[in-house]
Amino acid sequence: MEVTKDWNGIDQVVLRNPQGASVRVSLYGGQVTSWRSDRGEELLFTSSKAIFKPPKAMRGGIAICFPQFGNCGSLEQHGFARNKTWAIDENPPPSSPEDSHDKSFVDLLLKPSEEDLKCWPHSFEFRLRVALAADGKLKLISRVRNIDGKPFSFSFAYHTYLFVSDISEVRIEGLEILDYLDNTRQRERFTEQGDAITFESEVDRVYLHSPNAVAVLDHERKRTFVIRKEGLPDVVVWNPWEKKAKAMIDFGDEEYKQMLCVDAAVIEKPVTLKPGEEWTGSVELRLVPSTFCCEGIEDLSDFL
Ligand code: BG6
Repeated sequence: MEVTKDWNGIDQVVLRNPQGASVRVSLYGGQVTSWRSDRGEELLFTSSKAIFKPPKAMRGGIAICFPQFGNCGSLEQHGFARNKTWAIDENPPPSSPEDSHDKSFVDLLLKPSEEDLKCWPHSFEFRLRVALAADGKLKLISRVRNIDGKPFSFSFAYHTYLFVSDISEVRIEGLEILDYLDNTRQRERFTEQGDAITFESEVDRVYLHSPNAVAVLDHERKRTFVIRKEGLPDVVVWNPWEKKAKAMIDFGDEEYKQMLCVDAAVIEKPVTLKPGEEWTGSVELRLVPSTFCCEGIEDLSDFL
């Protein structure tokens, strides 16, 4: 693990594995800002117009949405965690051998400031582990502990910008026939009908109670992201498409073609923690060989 400063003077941690894969994590937001394969290819999307300057989360990578996903109530859109400075956790709780063996990792910690407590009056400790495995897999484990005297509830998402070759050549498998809330229609509930999800216009949906593995097939690049999650029942799928892309100042007009957000999340039924309780939600991202891309993934349970 290597700690350097980014161009705003903010600490960032670089993890590397012996094969040459790497991950970069900013202490600003605890945001993963880069994940590279052992061949040096960037696997996460970052907008060319991204603003790497607080107080706005950088458009790309993997942002932590907590204690809310979306925009309701008095909290800022997607919660404050992505806009706070996290610390390196010098005393992380002991982890299972599975979570530390063969991995390069960093443990980060977020505690609420006085200012946070004014808009969300609950004391918590949020521990985030970001780990890069020897085979290049990226894993994020979030642990939220209630250290308050009363219960609290929250929603959460790993807001994950995957880098794709051409959105019209991409499909998602694993979300078929699920119910979803459509954010473009005031969260109205629909049921997915198609075989696999493909893209030809704006999509902003929260798929409910999804299986623990979802695949994003990038036909042109002949690669598939397999997303495996635990403790996170929902999956957000977002592509702003042309009109919304043009309306975002930190996003290029044509960049919607090169990205797709697929966020492991807990949204529909927020998590409630009693005093002293802890919640864990993790996501693992990996690339699988291109042969899977041609035939589709027959049985996602192979990846569980
Ligand atoms: C997605 C939401 O996850 O994030 C969209 O579903 C939202 O509704 C998008 O527009 C981007 O949000 P932000 O706050 O990072 O611009």
